Amino acid sequence: MDTIIAKVTEQGESISKAADILRVGGLVAFPTETVYGLGGDGLNKEASGKIYAAKGRPSDNPLIIHIGEQAALDNLVRSVSEPAKKLMDAFWPGPMTLIFDKSDRVPKETTGGLDTVAIRYPSHPVALRLLRESGVYIAAPSANLSGRPSPTHARHVIEDLNGRIDMILDGGAVEIGLESTIIDVTGMHPVILRPGFITKEMIEQLLPDITVDPAILVEQKQEKLVAKAPGMKYKHYAPRGQLYLVEGTNEKAVFDKINAMVEEAADKGLRAAVIATEESANNYQTGLVKVMGSRLKEETVAKKLFAILREMDDLGVDVIYSESFGQQGLGQAIMNRLLKAAGYQIISADES
Ligand code: TXA
Ligand code: MG
Repeated sequence: MDTIIAKVTEQGESISKAADILRVGGLVAFPTETVYGLGGDGLNKEASGKIYAAKGRPSDNPLIIHIGEQAALDNLVRSVSEPAKKLMDAFWPGPMTLIFDKSDRVPKETTGGLDTVAIRYPSHPVALRLLRESGVYIAAPSANLSGRPSPTHARHVIEDLNGRIDMILDGGAVEIGLESTIIDVTGMHPVILRPGFITKEMIEQLLPDITVDPAILVEQKQEKLVAKAPGMKYKHYAPRGQLYLVEGTNEKAVFDKINAMVEEAADKGLRAAVIATEESANNYQTGLVKVMGSRLKEETVAKKLFAILREMDDLGVDVIYSESFGQQGLGQAIMNRLLKAAGYQIISADES
């Protein structure tokens, strides 16, 4: 299939074209404030089927339905709890997805067979214009091939999906760089199923009893907990080279450990890379060093993380050592994505 690749312009002709494609059951990749999405009509089971096929995604991994106004909820969900209302008032439109009991209008092909549905009201102007002009409730997973890092630039979407979908809307780089925070609001006590830009600390201001699904925390591997967001169980975001996260109570020990491992890898003829931050980069003497952003502004780390994982593939790196982050604030979402990309391979700098 020939994929139309079009920049978004002031006049919005490319958005109108994309809206036409969505209305007749086609697929369009478009920017949101978090990552690029691969959109199709969420109420049309053939369109949902095409999304799974284009991504190579397992059919039990449900899609998020995007809406362009809060009133659309009435058509898609059975009921809205008090905690859900508080969250929507505070964070919609924006990088938050809520899980509700689905209405009969939502086909099970879109929800991976579940009786619940994930809904997000994004804030990106292109996403909003596309939703409102098409009148379609847009089911959209991240616009990457299954298992690859989520796309934060149109060029990442082109790499993965050119020739597999009808159109790619190029709206430049996204703002946030990590997917939305997912919160299950089907019960009286909301639970965070996937950490994101809206942090646990921000949610606690409104809902002091908010909890995090234990399956997404660091201990996941050891305890073999089953993730409640089906997508969280798959290997994700993984670069082709093996990624290791290096942790330690003392930063000098982390630098030494990483330097030693880079040298060891080089001795074995492997191409090694380091993922560092602005504050730490000059402590690494050898190997390829990539700077994700500043620890003092973790949103800069979030924004570059997926692009750097993709770059590692472009550079043909065999082994990657990354610094780790704390579990507070945005650090929780950053560590969640890094741990998944690393297949939970953690090296302690304290033990040597
Ligand atoms: O920021 C985002 O959320 C982006 C943009 C495009 O909106 N979308 C995104 O979609 O990240 P995706 O499909 O890559 O991730 C959706 C996650 C998966 O882990 C899926 O299992 C979970 O949401 N999910 C979807 N519906 C669910 C449901 N009914 N119950 C539990 N988890 C659900
Ligand atoms: Mg995804």
